[in-house]
Amino acid sequence: MKIRKMTMEDLDEVIAIEQSLFTSPWGKNHFAYELTQNPFAINLVGELDSKIVSVGCLWAIFERAEITTIGVSKEYQHQGLGELMLLRMMDEAKLAGCSGIFLDVRVSNVPAIRLYQRLGFSVFHTVKQYYTDNGEDAYQMRKEIA
Ligand SMILES: CC(C)(COP(=O)(O)OP(=O)(O)OC[C@H]1O[C@@H](n2cnc3c(N)ncnc32)[C@H](O)[C@@H]1OP(=O)(O)O)[C@@H](O)C(=O)NCCC(=O)NCCS
Repeated sequence: MKIRKMTMEDLDEVIAIEQSLFTSPWGKNHFAYELTQNPFAINLVGELDSKIVSVGCLWAIFERAEITTIGVSKEYQHQGLGELMLLRMMDEAKLAGCSGIFLDVRVSNVPAIRLYQRLGFSVFHTVKQYYTDNGEDAYQMRKEIA
């Protein structure tokens, strides 16, 4: 998989992936804002044969990086592409000067939690009823990357 920076031309494919994976996906305007207005945003896509199969976005705000979305198209999951994307996101955060990387995840999202734990993230806090769609709790996870 070739990982590169996301562009405006990618947005239709990116939105389609996000809609297939998340109950409350970001819309086109939100991604457009991240691409054109947010100086802290690092937006990545992963391509196989010129087709976008994964998305990874983070904010690198001084010493702290925050993962805002990571996803792999359903038909390409379980092939190590999520791990590749997360490793690249950690590299990008380090390059941007961050010393820690943080994320929120639904407590029921076992595949994502396993991926994060495999790459060294650990839970440091649970936020009760964080997700407004179903009242689910969130784990907050972090990893030192300095
Ligand atoms: C979380 C997510 C990004 C993981 O993507 P992925 O590409 O499936 O991740 P990986 O392939 O690196 O790892 C997933 C599993 O496949 C396994 N795997 C990796 N390569 C494999 C291969 N070649 N053959 C078989 N299994 C493989 C991994 O060991 C891992 O197994 P485990 O969960 O039992 O530890 C993906 O499930 C996803 O997009 N989910 C929906 C969106 C989402 O929830 N995002 C996170 C929000 S916080």
